Amino acid sequence: MATTTRGRSGARSSSTNGSTRRTRRVSPQPRLGQKAPEIQQFDRLRLLPIALSAAARSESCRLLNEILADTMILYALYKKSHWNVAGPTFYQLHLLFDKHAGEQLELIDLLAERVQSLGGIAVGDPRHAAELTSIERPPDGAEDVPAMITRLLRAHEKLIALTRHALDLTERNKDWGSNDLLMGDVLRRNELQVWFIAEHLVDVPLVEH
Ligand SMILES: [Fe+2]
Repeated sequence: MATTTRGRSGARSSSTNGSTRRTRRVSPQPRLGQKAPEIQQFDRLRLLPIALSAAARSESCRLLNEILADTMILYALYKKSHWNVAGPTFYQLHLLFDKHAGEQLELIDLLAERVQSLGGIAVGDPRHAAELTSIERPPDGAEDVPAMITRLLRAHEKLIALTRHALDLTERNKDWGSNDLLMGDVLRRNELQVWFIAEHLVDVPLVEH
């Protein structure tokens, strides 16, 4: 026969055939306003069983986070350009800049989840990204199309140079997962985007005079 008793803390003890099981009193009230210290610091790694040395994972996390920060900034730069573009090429560039922003957003998630897969902490806050990036801050106002595209190309080149450096180091460390992501996704996508926007700086007439 089962019997139930309640202790001073409100916890119930139920006994069935001599065995006792304690259960917590449940409440539908969310426990709001909770605070706790960090459970993992930014520069510390968790150990995950992926047969890759701590030194290799640490170096990859540092590089991937720098590329992630640049990618977050480039994403924002594309959105700013999408909103501020003006002139005869407004419609095509408005759409193209948003397409590129969406593709950079996908890279942000791939890079961040790679850092987490290595046991690290991905940069998440845009103010943290702003501290890590080497991409120059644009003016708060609007620029014309050639200046806007030139700024985007400079940002791409910084990001691509950093990616090439990271490709060398991840190859040396045999971190093939990061190497594959950096080559197949980050490098190739950025090179393609450079081509698509650089062609808008070619000065050719629509009709021969
Ligand atoms: Fe939009």
